Amino acid sequence: MSGIFTKSMARNIFYGGTVFFFLLFLALTFDTERELPNRDNRQNLTPEVAAGKHIWETRNCLGCHTLLGEGAYFAPELGNVYTRRGPEFIKAWMMSQPTGAPGRRQMPNFHLTDEELDQLVAFFKYTAGINTANWPPNIEG
Ligand code: HEC
Repeated sequence: MSGIFTKSMARNIFYGGTVFFFLLFLALTFDTERELPNRDNRQNLTPEVAAGKHIWETRNCLGCHTLLGEGAYFAPELGNVYTRRGPEFIKAWMMSQPTGAPGRRQMPNFHLTDEELDQLVAFFKYTAGINTANWPPNIEG
């Protein structure tokens, strides 16, 4: 090396780098597309789960909670709440709001029917089955 950094060297680094990272981008995109069906629990995506998601969206649960990290930080993460609490707890919880416990943040009552509660539980069961590579690292979300 002469120690001189020429214009053509700079250009080659630019083009080489662009091609390299574009190919890397394509490879990672391909890998993600191939991996996703094994991770997203789509085999358990039933109409009941979709109905539960509809409840989740129309009642703005995300305005207080996170689901797999997305949402607001006022209330606990719920992506793994099915694993953490189980179906009966979730239904009882929904029916007994607000708790009125002093000093604790409160959650409204959404007056869901038995069918809607089952749909919500199905949705949480589905989200708990998504392979998130062990996120969140602790069961309490
Ligand atoms: C106004 C804010 C708010 C909204 C909206 C809200 N929640 Fe909550 N939720 C809370 C708070 C606060 C807690 C924790 C209360 C406590 O621990 O005493 C909670 C706790 C929970 C828990 C128990 C979590 C656990 O780990 O024990 C479940 C299940 C839950 N919410 C489901 C829902 C669902 C489903 C919706 C939408 C239909 C919803 N929440 C909407 C505030 C909210």
